[in-house]
Amino acid sequence: MSRALTGITPSGRLHLGNLVGAMRPIVAAQEVGSGPDDTIAFISDLHALTLDHDPAKVRERTFEFVTLLLAVGVDPGRAVLMVQSHVREHVELHYLLECAAGFGEAQRMIQFRQKSRGRDHVRLSLLTYPVLMAADILLYGAAEVPVGDDQRQHVELARTVAERFNARYGEVFIVPKAVHPPVAARLGDLARPARKMSKTAPPGAGVLHLLDTPDVLRRTIARAVTDSAGTVAYDPVGRPGVSNLLAVLAVCSGSTPERLVGEYTRYGDLKRATADAVIATLAPVQARYAELAADPGHVREVLRDGAARASAIAAPTVRAAREAIGLLAA
Ligand code: TYM
Repeated sequence: MSRALTGITPSGRLHLGNLVGAMRPIVAAQEVGSGPDDTIAFISDLHALTLDHDPAKVRERTFEFVTLLLAVGVDPGRAVLMVQSHVREHVELHYLLECAAGFGEAQRMIQFRQKSRGRDHVRLSLLTYPVLMAADILLYGAAEVPVGDDQRQHVELARTVAERFNARYGEVFIVPKAVHPPVAARLGDLARPARKMSKTAPPGAGVLHLLDTPDVLRRTIARAVTDSAGTVAYDPVGRPGVSNLLAVLAVCSGSTPERLVGEYTRYGDLKRATADAVIATLAPVQARYAELAADPGHVREVLRDGAARASAIAAPTVRAAREAIGLLAA
């Protein structure tokens, strides 16, 4: 049995990058998983507390993101859907893994360096958060972790910590590996294509949010930065703007940038086709979201069931880790 798992942090607003980097792959994993507990999707609300946060917003986004996961096709009959903080084993294993992870290792994480830069107060949890992420993964014996490129280093840390713990205290954890979508493991921001599309980008950025209206989506794509070459080519390094548009069109039309490149000669036509494809992709998601959001009781029920199923998988792992590391059984 091989288990797939992914998490999403409830900060900012979900976008097309999250859809292709994590949400679609977890829905695909549930289609091939052998049992309903082999695919796990969760909202990592504890991770949202590592930077300045508004408590009411974190709660609201947690609910919104769960609802969006359901809207894109996560099926509680075939996958476990839960909120991280509802399953206490996450924080318990986090501490045990902190005893197997190094300060230098945590400090070297690119996201820590980027997010702590220029701040005079950095929360300690920002430094230790990749170890919590390792706990998220190792608790469930997940072999495959579908993530976008930006999370690759964190999954590597989970591997390192699992290997070290196993070598020192005995085989407790399955060593995970990151898996990336074939196209667009990193969708760029349409206004600043060298940067990744980000949930917390400032207004005016080129981010395609899953809940944006067709008008807003069309405008964001129309404003996308290209270049002055005037030809459509796929060259993510040399021509990031136009290549990113091709990637967006590819993920929304089930094609590849290489195949699409010959079909367009003008930026305007490429942008129009991209806008049509994005709107067509998101329309059914938005319609399903509206239905689900009208029945919050159902979403709550899904979360209660998900937390109970997650805890049933996680508890034996924590017990094994406690025993291996030298804690006296209670
Ligand atoms: P988060 O919430 O920042 O992002 C959620 C997922 O979306 C992917 N992603 C992208 N993929 C392609 N292009 C982009 N522009 C893009 N932006 C984001 C991310 O790689 C991620 O897969 N720490 C994690 C959440 C987490 C987690 C875990 C993931 C917590 N525990 C355990 C996997 C396993 C995070 O903040 O992702």
